[in-house]
Amino acid sequence: MEELYTRRLILRRWRASDLEDLHELLTDPQTAEGAGFIASRSMEESLVRLSGMINSSDAWAVTLKEDDTAAGWIRFRPDDILKNRRGFQVGYAIREDLRRQGYMQEALAAAMGYIFEDASSASVSARVKPDNAASVKVLMKNGFSLAGRLPGYETAGSAGEVLLFIRTRDDPLPKEDASMMAKQLSSLCDPSEGWLTCLCNAVAFIYDEMDMINWAGVYFLKEGKLYLGPFNGKPACSVIDLSRGVCAKSVRDRSTVVVPDVHQFEGHIACDSASASEIVIPLMLEGELLGVLDIDSPIRERFGEYEKTMLEGAAKVMTGFLKGYREERQ
Ligand code: SME
Repeated sequence: MEELYTRRLILRRWRASDLEDLHELLTDPQTAEGAGFIASRSMEESLVRLSGMINSSDAWAVTLKEDDTAAGWIRFRPDDILKNRRGFQVGYAIREDLRRQGYMQEALAAAMGYIFEDASSASVSARVKPDNAASVKVLMKNGFSLAGRLPGYETAGSAGEVLLFIRTRDDPLPKEDASMMAKQLSSLCDPSEGWLTCLCNAVAFIYDEMDMINWAGVYFLKEGKLYLGPFNGKPACSVIDLSRGVCAKSVRDRSTVVVPDVHQFEGHIACDSASASEIVIPLMLEGELLGVLDIDSPIRERFGEYEKTMLEGAAKVMTGFLKGYREERQ
């Protein structure tokens, strides 16, 4: 990582001589609360954290040009819950007396420019507590938009709702060939190994492969109801009646249903309260509807035309696996 210069700041690597400055930041309860870390209890603890910062290639010290004090930090890590491999999660903190003067915004603008110059990163996310208005402002001014809410998100040992903000590159990376996923599934799964084996790996593949999804799985249609099949994500509703919900609509219409905002879909069944958008694709084998492929995302409008084409291709391959299931059932 390079040193970055702004009007009032220098973003540089951490140094051993920053210990006192870092300790001041790490022991301030308000900074800890806002940035979501457990406050340091001793100089020794701060020293351990400083060594982590010095050794890490993703943590900048935000220093004041005028006196070289380390007044805050910005840190980028590979995105965790969104599993966005091309993306980073940003975290930051700034000393109390420097807040509301545009310092953090200035620092973040420089850091974002640097991160987006790296062609391999397509998006940056940030998680903010809903009452942290100053931080929300910093993000909005830096081109982030509110993408969703994550309930029960753990920060500093306590769980609570956080707001998820995302900024995507203005020139997003070119999307891959939409038929790629179907091809990958075909080569990953050998139907001679059994339909259930194949289906389990197929949903695991989709869950692992796609960014920004929190649930992927199959429901089987049996005697007018949907029964939970192989899935990845939080435990879900095991039996769904065909009278309500997105999966049921897909069964009734015998077609793909894309829901950009599940909160606007009357009758939506919330298995994971983090879900914000959803796509359901019927699994049709020779005209018979055997079940559905259901995928949820924690951000709104996750599934566009590209994702629909890609997942319909994947569903077709998965339907092929279901030949064995249909035979067993008969
Ligand atoms: N949301 C679905 C229920 C299944 S879960 O999302 C896994 C529905 O409304 O049918």
